[in-house]
Amino acid sequence: MWEKTQETVKFLKEKGFINIDYGIILGTGLGNFTDNIDISIRLAYEEIPNFPVSTVSGHHGELIYGTIGDKTVLALRGRFHYYEGWTMQEAIFPVRVMKYLGIDNIIVSNASGGVNANFKTGDVMLISDHINMMPEHPLRGKNDERFGPRFVDMHEPYSLDMIAHMEKIAINANIKIQKGTYLALQGPTFETPAEYGMVRNLGADAVGMSTVPEVIVAKHMGMTCFGLSIITDLGIEGLVEKVSHEEVQKVAKLAEAKVGELVKKFIETY
Ligand code: HPA
Repeated sequence: MWEKTQETVKFLKEKGFINIDYGIILGTGLGNFTDNIDISIRLAYEEIPNFPVSTVSGHHGELIYGTIGDKTVLALRGRFHYYEGWTMQEAIFPVRVMKYLGIDNIIVSNASGGVNANFKTGDVMLISDHINMMPEHPLRGKNDERFGPRFVDMHEPYSLDMIAHMEKIAINANIKIQKGTYLALQGPTFETPAEYGMVRNLGADAVGMSTVPEVIVAKHMGMTCFGLSIITDLGIEGLVEKVSHEEVQKVAKLAEAKVGELVKKFIETY
C-alpha cells in the first residue's frame, strides 16, 4: 500500500497536482459540484496508476484539480464503494493518495436515508459523528506506522470548528441545514423498515453505504474532515418510502445547487 501510494502520488505530482488546500470526495448526485471549480487539470481514473475504476452508473471516475477563489482543490468525482466488490484497501486508496499529495483537509459528501423524524428529503445534514457498521475495518491487519498509529483517536472525527463555520455560512445564506450522526452499512440493498428502525435505535440520524471508511483512514493519517450528507429518502417509522437509485440521484441533483453554494463559500472562507 505504501509503495503503491507513493507511486501514484509521484505520477500525479508530475502531472501538476501540487499545493492543494482541500480534497473533496463527491458523492452520488454531486458530480456537477465540479462546475464551481476553475479547472486546470482533469484525469480519468483509468489514466492513473493503481486507481480502481468505478462501476456504478452516476458515479463518474475523474480526478479534478483547480481553484475555488484563492484555494486549490482536488475533487474525486466518483468514489469506490465496498459493495461494488472493492476491498477496503482499494476503496480508501484515493484518501491515502490525497494525504501524500500534501492535503490535510478533506470534505466528504454522500446521499443518505434520513431516520430522524425532523428530516425532509432534500435536506442537507452536516455530519457531526458517525457509527461504523461496515463488515470490515479499513485498518484491519498489520499497521504501517508510516501512515499512522495502530490505535487511532476518533474523539473528533468531523472538525467541530469546520461545522461551526458551515453553520454560520448557512445562516447567512438563509439555507436550512440539519446536523447529525451518519451510520454506514455495507449495502447495496437499501434498508428494510426494521433496519431503518435499528439504525435510529442505534443513535443515528442518517444511513448510507460510504464515507466512514474514508474518514477512518483520513483520521489514521491525521487529516481534518468535514462531511455532509444529502437526505434523499426517509426511513422513519410508519413513513418508510420506496427508494431507488434513480430517486436518490434525482433528489441529490435537486439539492446540488444548495450544497454547491455552501461548499464553495466554505472553501473560500474557511
Ligand atoms: N440507505 C442507504 N444508503 C442510501 C440511502 C438509504 O436509504 N439513501 C441514499 N443512500
